[in-house]
Amino acid sequence: MNTELLVSDATHFRIDYEINPYMHTDVQPDPVAANAEHDAIVAAHLAAGRLVEYVPAAPECPDMVFTANAAVVRGERAVLGFPPPERKAEMSYFEEWLVDRGYEVVEAPFPFSGQGDALACGDLLLAGHGQRTDQRMHAVLAKELDYDVIPLRTVGPRWYDLDLAIAVIDPHTLAYCPLALDEPSRGSLRALGLDLIEVGLDEASRLALNLISDGRTVTMTRGVPRLAAALRERRLHVVELDTTQLAKGGGGVRCTALTLDNPPRQGSR
Ligand code: ARG
Repeated sequence: MNTELLVSDATHFRIDYEINPYMHTDVQPDPVAANAEHDAIVAAHLAAGRLVEYVPAAPECPDMVFTANAAVVRGERAVLGFPPPERKAEMSYFEEWLVDRGYEVVEAPFPFSGQGDALACGDLLLAGHGQRTDQRMHAVLAKELDYDVIPLRTVGPRWYDLDLAIAVIDPHTLAYCPLALDEPSRGSLRALGLDLIEVGLDEASRLALNLISDGRTVTMTRGVPRLAAALRERRLHVVELDTTQLAKGGGGVRCTALTLDNPPRQGSR
């Protein structure tokens, strides 16, 4: 799982606006350090044997490094994100890249945070709503991508995207922060019968859950030792990276990569 990823670059990454509680226009990333951080993430993907595709960041798009919000892709189809107005200019670049690569691209009719609010786990799609995604998108995702959608709600803007509150480790294992989800959502997750790793508010707030796992290697932020240890106990290879600069935009490792190879349902076209 998660072996083909679309990334951009941190060349134009900066804080021009504040659309999540982590962003402050008076706390700017250091450009050299931000590029080094992003390069190290890409190098870690390559070292893990993942394929990396690249779309260059546009100068007028300071958040374009966070490619996860561009779409959700399954098989040959992509449902595009419908971001806040501040990030709208990114979409034509992502759409063009996807169309050029032969994906059948579907526009989102309602606000939608792309993969930021839509985590694939086999045929399940853990789908956020109430922050950046309109709940009406869930029916669109079910229809267009043939997923069984599990609606989940986070408890506030600190979890503006679901990929800050939950991580898919492998098809049988999730890590999540119980306190970031409302009670019905916690119940829905428990009812899935998967192995659940609980993460505390302290580590989740440091974007511990914004990780990429292919079921063998987990690429994650440095400085969240309890989650790292829980993953190592499960015999995963854990690679911890500095994400200090990206965190100024409210993002981490997961936000910088859109998964391109989510497998279609068995037996479907
Ligand atoms: N500054 C970006 C925003 O607020 C960060 C996006 C992070 N992406 C994610 N998948 N959580 O839109």
